[in-house]
Formats: sequence, C-alpha cells, structure tokens
Amino acid sequence: MAKFYVLIGPPGAGKGTQAKIIAEKYNLVHISSGDLFRENLKNQTELGKLAQGFMTRGELVPDDVTIGMVRERISRPDCKNGALLDGFPRTPAQADALAVMLKEFGSKVELVPLIDVPAKDLIERLSGRWTCKEGHVFHEKFNPPQKAGICDIDGSELYQREDDKKATVENRIKVYTEQTAPLIEYYGNRKLLVKIDGTKPIDAVTKELLSAIEKV
Ligand code: AP5
Repeated sequence: MAKFYVLIGPPGAGKGTQAKIIAEKYNLVHISSGDLFRENLKNQTELGKLAQGFMTRGELVPDDVTIGMVRERISRPDCKNGALLDGFPRTPAQADALAVMLKEFGSKVELVPLIDVPAKDLIERLSGRWTCKEGHVFHEKFNPPQKAGICDIDGSELYQREDDKKATVENRIKVYTEQTAPLIEYYGNRKLLVKIDGTKPIDAVTKELLSAIEKV
C-alpha cells in the first residue's frame, strides 16, 4: 500500500529541510504545497495569480483551491508508492479532504511528525534563510552554503523569499497558531501525531524523525 506521511510545524520549523532528506532516504515524492504555489506564481498561472496576494500577506490560500491543487499532484503516477507532504494539510478541512482522497486511492496517512520549535526562534531562522530555485534550503548562520549566495547541491543562485520579511513572518506565525495548530489535536486524537524537538541541530532532528518513521 502507498505510504503517506504529513510533516507539520510552524513556518521555519524545518519542514522543507527535513522533507528533502527523508524523501530521498525513503524514495518518496516530496510534495510541498508552498513550492507548488511558488512554481505557479513563477509561471504566472491563474492559480499562481490567485495565490499571490494571500502568500504576500502571509495568509492561507483558500481551502478549495489548495485541496484541488494537492489532489491533482497526488493523483500523478509518481505518487503510487506514497509521498511526504510538507505544508499540507494546514486546516482541519484540508485534513478531512486528504483523508477522503487517500481513501479513494486505497491508502491513508501513516504518521504525522510535528516539528516543534518555539515562536521566538522562528524569526531568526526565516530572516537568515536562503533558498535555490530547486528548493534546497540554507541558513546563513545554522547551515551556511560553502560559497555565499550559491547552492551547494546544484550551483544555482540563492534568493530570500518575499514572505520572509519580519511583518509577514509574524502574520504567518499568527495564522499557524489560529488555523493550523488545531491539527495537533486533530491528529493526536487519531493517534497519528508524534512530536519532534525541532530546536536541535538539523542532523539530530533528522535522526529523531527517522526513528519515529521506522517505528510505524
Ligand atoms: P510554505 O512554503 O509551506 O511555508 P511555511 O509553512 O511557512 O514553511 P517554511 O517553508 O517557511 O518553513 P519550513 O518549516 O519548511 O522551514 P525550512 O526547512 O525552510 O507556505 C508559504 C505560503 O504558501 C503560506 O504562507 C500560504 O500562503 C501558502 N500555502 C502553502 N501551503 C498552504 C496550505 N496547505 N493551505 C493554504 N495556504 C498554503 O527552514 C527554515 C530555516 O531554518 C532555513 O534557513 C533552514 O536552513 C533553517 N533550519 C532548518 N532546520 C534547522 C535546525 N534544526 N536548526 C537551525 N536552523 C534550521
């Protein structure tokens, strides 16, 4: 049966960083809803134009639009063995929709690791983040690239995200607390949630995550 894992956590917790490592290790497709929106934005699709305002303000894109986009991605043949979802679901309505779509595919969510990092650390993480066009993530202090401004993995240029400005980050954290944190109880009630200490160094967080996944 296809295996689906859902990474949740506040903005800057390290979901994307860990998802890249875990997906490669288990040969899973990494689906980041944020990356899908950014790709659409770059290509100026109707979906990208619709998402733009919400993303710039640090708000969630409406559920129906987000669910449709992820559903289309999960339906592709490369997800037949499962996927690692990063940034989706982000509301209980999205979580309900995910359960329904996976049931249709004869599958279900296996585990929901919550990467837990207190709000006070998140602004520093996001203000020092540098990303390449392929989504490889660095941090000028915690995980610097070998050459400033250049991705170690594919040699492309690094950039800072528009929504990593302080005011937008503060709103993203507020939105997480109000709209996404209820998923902790949602998945806790379903015995799928496992809390991971995201304040440790990147390698230590990976180790904790791998150990949680190996247990299921
Ligand atoms: P999205 O792209 O999903 O952003 P996010 O959830 O806010 O998460 P981030 O990508 O900012 O952080 P991350 O947890 O992946 O951290 P990272 O690994 O980069 O969403 C963007 C927008 O799209 C949303 O605001 C919304 O508008 C829209 N959207 C997306 N999904 C949606 C949905 N489902 N519904 C509605 N709207 C949606 O790490 C951060 C930094 O910290 C990096 O520099 C990294 O090097 C560093 N770092 C990582 N781990 C550690 C560590 N252990 N110690 C020290 N530094 C670390």
